[in-house]
This record gives sequence, structure tokens and C-alpha cells, in this order.
Amino acid sequence: LDDLLAEGVAGRRVLVRADLNVPLDGETITDDGRIRASLPTISKLVSGGARVVVTAHLGRPKGAPDPKFSLRPVATRLNELLDATVTLAHDVVGDSAKAGVDGLADGEVALLENIRFDARETSKDEAERGAFARELAALVGDGGVFVSDGFGVVHRKQASVYDVAKLLPAYAGGLVLAEVEVLRRLTGTPDRPYVVVLGGSKVSDKLAVIESLLPKVDKLLVGGGMCFTFMAAEGLGVGSSLLEGEMIDTCKKLLAEAGDKILLPADVVIADRFAADAATETVLVAEMREDWMGLDIGPITAERYAAALADAGTVFWNGPMGVFEMAPFAEGTRAVAQAIVDGNSYSVVGGGDSAAAVRALGLPEDGFSHISTGGGASLEFLEGKELPGVAVLEES
Ligand code: 3PG
Repeated sequence: LDDLLAEGVAGRRVLVRADLNVPLDGETITDDGRIRASLPTISKLVSGGARVVVTAHLGRPKGAPDPKFSLRPVATRLNELLDATVTLAHDVVGDSAKAGVDGLADGEVALLENIRFDARETSKDEAERGAFARELAALVGDGGVFVSDGFGVVHRKQASVYDVAKLLPAYAGGLVLAEVEVLRRLTGTPDRPYVVVLGGSKVSDKLAVIESLLPKVDKLLVGGGMCFTFMAAEGLGVGSSLLEGEMIDTCKKLLAEAGDKILLPADVVIADRFAADAATETVLVAEMREDWMGLDIGPITAERYAAALADAGTVFWNGPMGVFEMAPFAEGTRAVAQAIVDGNSYSVVGGGDSAAAVRALGLPEDGFSHISTGGGASLEFLEGKELPGVAVLEES
């Protein structure tokens, strides 16, 4: 981005791929972290007098316009946060988008409708994606350039992330650069002890990262819904907690390989149903109640995890420890996050949910060295996978 700004962007059309995939409750944005993270790059372009065309996705619509997935609330929020006029086009590369881009004055911003309203964006067919990317590139025309700033989506080989970067002069935005630099520090020689905290609901989503991280870390602390499959692998009853039966053998293998690196909960908060006003109890893991479900790690576990985090040199945390959105099940996540804040480690929070938890629980964002905007992207980076949206920039 700095190279591009040094060249000068006044009057030039710049296509920016941002990740504005924010959680919504109806039309209300419940966490605007990703929008705020996209501001520095857009603001620099605006200040430089560029005509900025922002493209982004929201959720996973089925390749056709769907009002539920409109970027309208995002456009409103961008308008509030940005010191520039933002207009939302009603389509992606159609008449409204073309008119919106044509009507841009220097320092103004046009946001295209959800890029995934066009099925070609996520097509596996390279020719289809290529044709769509050409239409996107045509919006900024001759002299137009591409800035890739949606770190959360660089692991997707999609038209607006990957193919368009082959058609236009392509630059890494400040967010993509910062995220890659931070994560390279973790895959390089992190300060020890290197402690990873993993939560979230499914082991299957995290299997690849667990397998690749295990040899590199000193401790792996497991919480969230996924800990129950590990507990089942240890022969413990899990009541009606989340369980991936087909993953039990894999968890047994991981536990056998890990020696004492993997820490599992000693106690859990259980509930008689999945509700904020459910009856709750805190029990040792050997004392799970038959029909109850575990919705958070318990205080003994939180203390053990906090102790492991206290002297860590490097911490990577992905996934809440419990259903933090409901007050009775938020304490495990709060305790782990607080322990990271209180420690002196180089700490990286990866993943939309954990980042949202930090903000929802009122923890200081500057208590962490870096809060990544990428969930899947940061995990794939740590797995050592090549991220198509980064590789294509390196080639460019
Ligand atoms: C995310 O939420 O992790 C990114 O926005 C990518 O979204 P996707 O998983 O739907 O591609």
C-alpha cells in the first residue's frame, strides 16, 4: 500500500477487497471489529484522493441476491466511521455498480453489493471465476489498481481475492501486511513457552491445526465444545454436551502423541438446557450429569489454564472456552482472556469469535499484542498452508 501511495493515487480508481463479514442480529451489527480494521487502508486511499471501490462478502448467500445478506448495514456503519461519502451499489458488477463507480469524485467510496451474490465469485471453475474477475477489473478500468486488504478471506481462492489480482497491478493493504507479519512471528521462532489455547465447537474444524501445532508448542489448552470429544476419548461421560463421535479415535491418537502437552478441563459448568436462564452446576469432569450439557470450563480449569498462560513467552488463542454470549457461561473465556492480558507474552487472538469475545466481555483490546481479523485464514496460515490470496500478491 505504501508503494502505491508513493506512486500517487489522486484521481485513480482503486479496487479494495476488504473483509467486512461482520456478525449481524437482524440488521444490527453486533461486532464491527472487521469494519474498523478496514478503515486505515481505505482512509489512506481517500486522503490520497483515490476513487475507492470496495468489494466484500457477507455470510454465505447461495450465489444470488438475498436481502438477508445485503451489505446495507455495513455501508451505513462505514459511512459513520469513515470521513468520506460511501454509496452502496445495488448490484455487484451491474448497472448500479457501474453508475456508482462512474459517479465517484476523488476521495469518495463506492461499496459494491455482497460479492457472493454472483455465483462466479466462489466457483471452482477457473474460467468462470476469471470471467467475473474481468468484469470486476473493468469497473476500475485502465489505470485502475487492486488492493488486497481482506485478510480474513485470503485463504479463499475466489475471484475478488485471487483471480482479480492477476488482472490488475496488485498491492497488499496494510491489514494484510500486518497480519502476515504477526503470524510469521508465530511460525518462525516464537518465544517460549509457546502456549496455544483452542476452543470453539468442533474438533473437526481444528484437527489440521492441532496436528501441525502439536510438535511446535509447549502447551495446548483445550476448551469450548470441542473439549467434550477429547473427554469422551479419555473414557469420560459427557452427558448431552456437544460430541463428534466419529472424532473420538482421532482425539485418542492426538492425546497419546501429545504426552502432557494437551491440557483438558478438570471441571465444567453444566446446564439442563441451552439457555441463559437454564439451571446450572459446576462439576468435576468425572461427575457429569447424564442429561446435562457442558457449556463452559469450570473455575479449577480456568485457574490451571491461567497458570500455564502466566509465564508464556508466546500465546495464540483461537475459540471461546464456553458460550460466552450467555452470562452464566462466560467466565471461562473471561478468565483465559484476562490471564493473557495480565501476562507478558507476545499474544495473538485469532478468529472472529475470540475477537468478538474480547470486545463483548469488555477486555482491553490493547492488552493483546495483536487481534487478528482472520478466523480460518489465521488457522490455515499457522498450519503452514499456502494462502492463495497472499501467494498471488507475492507473484504480482
Ligand atoms: C470469515 O468469516 O472467516 C471470513 O470472512 C471468511 O468467510 P468464509 O469462511 O465464509 O469464506
